[in-house]
Amino acid sequence: MKNYHLHTQLIHGQFRSKKWDYNHHVVPPMTASATFRLAGSTRGAAGFFRFACDRINPDRDVPIYIYDRLDEPTRGMLEENLATAEGAGCCVAFASGMAAVSAALGVLCHMGEEIVAHQVLYGCTYSLMTNWLPRIGVKTRFVDLNDVKAVKAALTPRTRVVYCETPVNPTLELIDLPRLRRALGEGAGRPSLVVDNTFATPNGQRPMTLGADVVVYSLTKGIGGFGTDMGGAVLASDKLRNEIMMYRKDFGGVLSPKAAWDFLVYGLPTLTTRLEATQRSAAKIAAWLERHPKVERVSYPGLASFPQARLARKQLRTLTGEFAPGAMIYFEVKDKKGDGEAGARLIDWVASNALSITLAVSLGQIKTLIEHPYSMTHSALPEADKLQGGVHPGGIRLSVGLEAPDDLIADLQSALAAV
Ligand SMILES: Cc1ncc(COP(=O)(O)O)c(C=O)c1O
Repeated sequence: MKNYHLHTQLIHGQFRSKKWDYNHHVVPPMTASATFRLAGSTRGAAGFFRFACDRINPDRDVPIYIYDRLDEPTRGMLEENLATAEGAGCCVAFASGMAAVSAALGVLCHMGEEIVAHQVLYGCTYSLMTNWLPRIGVKTRFVDLNDVKAVKAALTPRTRVVYCETPVNPTLELIDLPRLRRALGEGAGRPSLVVDNTFATPNGQRPMTLGADVVVYSLTKGIGGFGTDMGGAVLASDKLRNEIMMYRKDFGGVLSPKAAWDFLVYGLPTLTTRLEATQRSAAKIAAWLERHPKVERVSYPGLASFPQARLARKQLRTLTGEFAPGAMIYFEVKDKKGDGEAGARLIDWVASNALSITLAVSLGQIKTLIEHPYSMTHSALPEADKLQGGVHPGGIRLSVGLEAPDDLIADLQSALAAV
């Protein structure tokens, strides 16, 4: 297996898993069993003893399945494949990206401890850190994580986690992960660096090779790819596996095996091919938008004008090492009043007239999606933080799909003509 490209490994996967005997299936069957027959009370007791047990080696011992919420074979195979793609010691899959983000923070942080997070985050992650975690005594400080001085000033002996997305949703700003990791120092008390890699996917960036301790995903996005299922994942070193499994068992936000099957059979095997195609279109569209007289600015890591173009070439790499600027674009339309009205008109035109572009949140799908982060996905952030972090009223987020790029450009051309 190891001699094949990761791309090939993700198509063939670990379907011949130690976890379940699918040897005769070319595609694993979709499992749907909430509970599992136990041959006797001894096996039942052994199953409970062995679940998330430090004395059991999950790579060697076939699990005794008891109940879906604890562990389940199809989801287990997805987890093995995701861990392979990421180069992680373990993967635990959740019902949504937010379930994964909250589990990662829930496992790492105890009452009285602190998080230092980047000043711009997906709105629900921000809301989790400001509305819910304080209720259990976990406080978050928001700073610019590319400002090493500000990071060092924000760290206290109670800081357990440093958290960011990179590329940042929606601005596509990058966090220099090796530099950030160096700023956190070494030693037992060092905070864990947790990175949300949803935008890049493992085929666009592998944060663990750049210094991250834990990686989180919304599988709903690029990894799922088709927009049919919600899911999330936490990837970490093997040492954290049992604790994350226990957390999932008790908080209950487990990924359904049917959704896991879709990610395993459709999402992961097509990831690299989808990204190649959507990225090619995105590069073309970003260059076209940049030349358009009604466009104020375009943020796309593949453009020479991208402020962190060198960092992008270092961090954003496919599984085989090629530059992977991705399929997300953030741009602003020229707006005399500066209140974002022109952007709103563009989006409204698209919603009513464009076949190739859909006004909808989410991203990383085969369909091109457009949205207005300032008033939609990032509405939970305070105005001042949004403006300082580059989330402006005129900003538009475009997630490029598999449509013909000329159709996408033609719809954008008409939309810009209408503003
Ligand atoms: C960067 C990022 N992280 C996490 C999430 C949450 O994922 P989910 O919607 O699957 O809960 C999102 C959703 O948009 C996201 O964009």
